[in-house]
Formats: sequence, C-alpha cells, structure tokens
Amino acid sequence: MAKEKTRFVCQKCSSVASKWMGKCPDCEAWNSFVEEAAPVRTAARTSLGGRKKKNEPLPSTEIKFQNARRLSSGIGEFDRTLGGGLAPGGLVLVGGDPGIGKSTLLLQSLGRMAQAGKRVLYASGEESPEQIKMRAARLDCLSENLLIYSENCIEDVLGLLDKIAPAALVLDSIQTFYTADLQSAPGSVSQVREVAFKVFQDAKARGLPVFLVGHITKDGSLAGPKTLEHIVDTVIYFEGERTHSYRILRTIKNRFGSTQEIGVFQMSERGLEAVENPSEIFLAERPENSPGSVIVASMEGTRPLLVEVQALVSPSSSIGMPRRMATGLDYNRASLLIAIMEKRLGLGLQQEDVFVNVAGGVKITEPAADLGIATAIAGSFQNKAIDSKTVCVGEIGLTGEVRSVMQLEPRIREAEKLGFNRFILPSAANKGKTPLKSKMELCFVKTLAEALDLVL
Ligand SMILES: Nc1ncnc2c1ncn2[C@@H]1O[C@H](COP(=O)(O)OP(=O)(O)O)[C@@H](O)[C@H]1O
Ligand SMILES: [Mg+2]
Ligand SMILES: [Zn+2]
Repeated sequence: MAKEKTRFVCQKCSSVASKWMGKCPDCEAWNSFVEEAAPVRTAARTSLGGRKKKNEPLPSTEIKFQNARRLSSGIGEFDRTLGGGLAPGGLVLVGGDPGIGKSTLLLQSLGRMAQAGKRVLYASGEESPEQIKMRAARLDCLSENLLIYSENCIEDVLGLLDKIAPAALVLDSIQTFYTADLQSAPGSVSQVREVAFKVFQDAKARGLPVFLVGHITKDGSLAGPKTLEHIVDTVIYFEGERTHSYRILRTIKNRFGSTQEIGVFQMSERGLEAVENPSEIFLAERPENSPGSVIVASMEGTRPLLVEVQALVSPSSSIGMPRRMATGLDYNRASLLIAIMEKRLGLGLQQEDVFVNVAGGVKITEPAADLGIATAIAGSFQNKAIDSKTVCVGEIGLTGEVRSVMQLEPRIREAEKLGFNRFILPSAANKGKTPLKSKMELCFVKTLAEALDLVL
C-alpha cells in the first residue's frame, strides 16, 4: 500500500482527514481543512537518538521517585502557581494575549535561576539576541548562566541540549518554531503539535523542565488549542487588561499540583513584581459611600481575595431591549441574578440598563460573589450606598435564598485584617459545630431580601 504523503488537518480542532472536506465533521467549521505533509513518524520517534530506554510495566511498589525535588522558578508567586516550583521533565504552557507579559515573566524567571547558579536556555523565535539582551538588562537578569538563542527550527534547539545541559528551557513562542519534518508554515496546527510533541519526548527523556509560550488568538483560544493543552503537564494563563498594571497567573491544568492557585503581579519598568497583599491593591481606588459599590470576599485557591464589585443601573433608552453588561464575572450569572431580583423582590429592572464590573481587571468565578453582585445592583437601582466597611458573601438560589459557601473562615480573617467591621453571610454557616467568631459583626441572612434590608 502506498504511504500517504499528505493529509488534511482542520485548523480549528486538529481533526485529520485523508481528503479535503468543506465542513469539518468534528467541530463543524467551514473551509477549515488545510493540506499538510504527513509527519514521518516511525524511525525518528522510536529511536530518539538511541537514548530511549527499554520500557516495561512495573509493580506499583517498585516504582522509584526519580529526582522528585522541585526546582524553584526563582519567583515565589510563579512557584505558587506551578504548584511548588518546576517538576523534572514538566512541560508548562504559558498562554496569554500578546503584550500581557509572557516573555517578561519567563525571562525574569530564567534570569533568577541563572543568577542562582543554574545554566538555563532561553530560545526565542520572535526576537533577536540584542532585543532579548536589552530586555534582560532592564529586568536586571543578565548572567553568564543565562543563554540566549534566536532560532526557529526546533531540531536546532533540541540539538543543543546535550552540549549545554540546561536546568530549564523556554521556547518563546511555540507558534514561531517549526520542525523540518513538516512542510507547513510555523504556527499551523500540525506544526505546533509536532513541535510540542518533539519537545515533550525530549523533556521527559532528560527530566528537563520546559516552558512553552503560547499566544492566544482573538477568539480566546491558543492556536492548536486542544493539541497543546493535552500534551503539556501544566497550563497557565495570564489574565488582566493591558491597560491595567495588574496581572494574574491562573493555572488551568496541572499534573503536578493544584489548579486553584493564582499568582498576582504588577507590571512595572523593572518587570513583573509579586504583589504581597492583593486585596489591598484591588481595594485601593475604591470610592467611599457610593451607591453600587460592594466588597466581596472571593477565594482564589487557598487565598482569600477581597474585590470590589460595581454596578450601574440606569433607565434604558431602548424600549424592550435594556442593555446588560458584565466585566470580570459571568454574564449569564449576572442575568440570572437580575431575573431573580425582578421576580422575588419585585425590583423593576425590566426597563433599566444594568452594567456590572469587577474593579481592577480581576475575574471572579465563584457563586459566593452572588450576594455582593445583587447588592451592588440593588444599591445602584435605589441609589443607596452600602456602608463601606461591610463585606458580602453568599450564593443566591432561584427562590432568592442565600446559600452556604465554602471556606468562610479565611474570608472572614482577610476582611478583619483589612479593617472591615461587618460581614454579611449565609445563615446556614451559623449551624456548624464550631461557631464562627470574629471581631467584626457577623450578620447571618436567609434571603436576599433580608440582606438588602440590612445593608441598604
Ligand atoms: N521599556 C519598558 N518599560 C516598561 N515596560 C515595558 C517596557 N517594554 C515593555 N514593557 C511592558 O512589557 C509588556 C510586554 O510584555 P511581553 O513580556 O513582551 O509580552 P508578551 O511576551 O506576552 O507578548 C508591554 O506591554 C509593556 O507593558
Ligand atoms: Mg513575547
Ligand atoms: Zn474541526
């Protein structure tokens, strides 16, 4: 049978077909198939330059931990997001919008490692050595141990590893590298996948930690998204607005640790600086006694984060089509809360535009913010300010009841620490074995209506 030389790959979902198709049977995208050279697999993959050891299944009791010690990335907040530093052979994808700070973070991290005596390699397919050196100088991470290599061919980069034996490798960005095995352009789904796969094999064989930088496309996905996320061990996204100086590193997937942790940074002239107390920063510009502003105690992993939710409710100019907008929180959740308030509290929001925003470019994802969001909306609608030393926490159910949330203890401690004096929380939280205690006044509420009576 003749071996197929080319194949067709959907550029949206990486589905592979032997013939061109107008519509992808997997993701239903139109005109998404592109012809590509079929990768030459067998020889190149199995031999790996003769380094591959014979592989046998082992009894679980006899598997030894090899070198399980984690390597510090040189940046505490980054280690925290990585689940305690770099794992040997761990492949980490760092994704984010262009200009958000991916190169900055990784250069800083490698620089710190180099200054701590580790030899590290920063390979860039995007910038020249001069450009990288300029940035490294600005970030104060020049070191003889920090090796810079401008190259686009992945075989050339991997070919250096035997000689250099780096403690960590950065590929910036995965979309700019290509493998000589494929003819398609760098950045195409199959190139990205092949390059990542080659790196994966090499990293595992050597126990070398590797960072892959990935640019996110406009629609919010990495090019070749599913491919990459499946191959790598850890996926970390950079969040934040380019116009704000705050950056949040969020772990989406981690084979070596929790996915709950976030790292908070501030971008400055000297690079990304870890933010020691994020709540203070996110509350710094808060207006006093202004209707529609409410403080919410949210949990990010093991860390409580106090953030300000702002709502603006104003009469709509378009009849029957009021505008609804949510920034930093789920739009559907906000719509649901508005519907609950209309139905259960009789608030006439049908003819009002409602805008809800989380200040400082933070994103909150947990329903524990419901009570704060609803209070902010009601406050703006009734033009009443909630006391600025009050924090709200609770999930809201469809009947308008306030439901219990997890991890109240750390949220309460954080609010105390920052000088708040009243904490509104679900009444179910009062029924635990050890009663909650606080310097603050704890107000237990059963319903949203009760909470609003209390604070507005
Ligand atoms: N000379 C400079 N002084 C201060 N900040 C800079 C300077 N040059 C770049 N930056 C900041 O660094 C950001 C670029 O980050 P970078 O790490 O290149 O992003 P990415 O690799 O994610 O595309 C810019 O958006 C800017 O905020
Ligand atoms: Mg970059
Ligand atoms: Zn597809």
